[in-house]
Amino acid sequence: MAEDDELVTERFAAESLVRTGADDIERAAEAALRPRRLEEFVGQRVVRDQLSLVLEAARNRGRAPDHVLLSGPPGLGKTTLAMIIAAELGASLRITSGPAIQHAGDLAAVLSSLEEGEVLFIDEIHRLARPAEELLYVAMEDFRVDVVVGKGAGASAIPLSLPPFTVVGATTRAGLLPAPLRDRFGFTGHLDFYDADELERVLLRSAGLLGVSLAGEAAAEIASRSRGTPRIANRLLRRVRDWAEVRGDGTLSIEAARAALAVFEVDDRGLDRLDRAVLTALCTRFGGGPVGLTTLAVAVGEEPETVETVAEPFLFREGFVGRTPRGRIAMPAAWAHLGLDVPRDQGALFG
Ligand SMILES: Nc1ncnc2c1ncn2[C@@H]1O[C@H](COP(=O)(O)OP(=O)(O)OP(=O)(O)O)[C@@H](O)[C@H]1O
Ligand SMILES: [Mg+2]
Repeated sequence: MAEDDELVTERFAAESLVRTGADDIERAAEAALRPRRLEEFVGQRVVRDQLSLVLEAARNRGRAPDHVLLSGPPGLGKTTLAMIIAAELGASLRITSGPAIQHAGDLAAVLSSLEEGEVLFIDEIHRLARPAEELLYVAMEDFRVDVVVGKGAGASAIPLSLPPFTVVGATTRAGLLPAPLRDRFGFTGHLDFYDADELERVLLRSAGLLGVSLAGEAAAEIASRSRGTPRIANRLLRRVRDWAEVRGDGTLSIEAARAALAVFEVDDRGLDRLDRAVLTALCTRFGGGPVGLTTLAVAVGEEPETVETVAEPFLFREGFVGRTPRGRIAMPAAWAHLGLDVPRDQGALFG
């Protein structure tokens, strides 16, 4: 189920500018914009403060810090922070991910080659297979890995002790992590959506790195359509730059920002074509609901999973759509966004 969701999200990342996932090409473009040190990392004040304390204490003690878990929706800076942790510790970083580890043996090989003080980043840690997970418990707690030699009845486990190291785990679904694994992290940082001011700062910093001039008003405009997500902000910035270079005079003015985002069909609240299709169907074809997911999906010509995993999370989060036992309903914000009056008989639904 988790895997399917991610596939759907990735597929749509290619088609819409406001999807949260990123493909390989985009990840390469992102690498150039990643903050390298904690002080360059914009926003997330609470997590940043906590991390800086944990890291400084470890540095002072000359010891590897506790294992760190970073959780939060895609595109908010988990990978970036993992890299920053290694940089701040002056440690080298090993990168792997839950899906990349097929067998416990793969993880044993990585663990047994770690050097003292290294940071092991495990992305999508909620997707680790169970046997690998169990191996990781022991490695994180006792700094030991049992290497199995031989096969079948003659197999035996040789305990191998590991030097102190730090696991940084990242997950978009902390709820899926088994409690024993969650408990082995000494510190959990939860990343939340960014506010418009913070996104403006992300954008101005990125514009500087890209060597383009971004007007303050344009930064505010792009920020307000970025769904609280730095990845989306940086993506919109690149498309505004395209527009400015091809159809404008190269400067990222407010006019360039508005024109570019109109071309890419990202509206003033950051909704794209599918999001608006869902709202329009809900309000105009179904009178505001309640309507079941499948019926709604058919009306917009999409699979129910696509509507559920791609469009709905943001529509729920922003209060455009509500969920009731009898189906989805349009909230007042949906009617307002489409420039429609709330029908009188709908009022009772919002209770
Ligand atoms: N606080 C921040 N300040 C500046 N840029 C940021 C910040 N957070 C994220 N970014 C930018 O957003 C992009 C996406 O961030 P990152 O890859 O760290 O997200 P993620 O949480 O790991 O996402 P995923 O769950 O998809 O792996 C990066 O290019 C990074 O430069
Ligand atoms: Mg990441």
